[in-house]
Amino acid sequence: PISHFHPISLNTLTYQKSISTLKMWMHPTSTALTLCEYFEREKISFAGKKVIELGSGSGIVGILAVLLGGDVTFTDRTFILKQIEHNIVANIPSSCKGSAKVCALSWGEDQTKFLSEYDVILGSDIVYCLSSYPSLLKTLLHLSQPETTIYIAWQMWPRNTYNIFFRDMLPKHFHLQLVDENINEYIYVYKLTKKQSFVGDQPADSVDVVVV
Ligand SMILES: C[S@@+](CC[C@H](N)C(=O)[O-])C[C@H]1O[C@@H](n2cnc3c(N)ncnc32)[C@H](O)[C@@H]1O
Repeated sequence: PISHFHPISLNTLTYQKSISTLKMWMHPTSTALTLCEYFEREKISFAGKKVIELGSGSGIVGILAVLLGGDVTFTDRTFILKQIEHNIVANIPSSCKGSAKVCALSWGEDQTKFLSEYDVILGSDIVYCLSSYPSLLKTLLHLSQPETTIYIAWQMWPRNTYNIFFRDMLPKHFHLQLVDENINEYIYVYKLTKKQSFVGDQPADSVDVVVV
């Protein structure tokens, strides 16, 4: 329940104006903050873009995307949604509230309830559990088109280990580009686009994904 989360304010942190006043009920991860800093530093525009965020958690990344002009669908597991809604109400001016929608999306289960119509897919600190990699990949494959831009921010943990998701699973289906890194905290921001590859006469996203 919401009461288990402690309100914090990012006022104490030195972020640029658009996120410095956010009031969050759950700590955004350093990974989320790194992704937000990247968007602000690179002046990434979300204006007119249809955006979906996976595993929103505190919602900070999606909130910034709304503040930067995006039409954002925040998603996470059902029990997290109240917290996201709270943070949206606390941080997004009512004039932009129409640009924020919150929906349940459990990877591998709910993605087909969503159309593959997004310009941008966002994910911060969502790659940390080996058993969820296949369902997360299926979700990304379903939601994306070759025109979709995907940003995934990832904190490598444990340090310096081989990560099958980034090394093997994603490159089979997506072009990956490392666009930012926070070397002190082992955080990496990847920009992905879907390959236009086909296996036989089947699109690549219909291939079953298995982690061995
Ligand atoms: C470490 S938190 C990151 C939250 C936020 N993106 C951030 O960086 O601050 C991981 C998030 O992924 C969500 N998540 C984990 N497994 C999931 C699944 N199978 N389907 C949907 N969301 C999931 C969790 O509920 C949680 O909100």
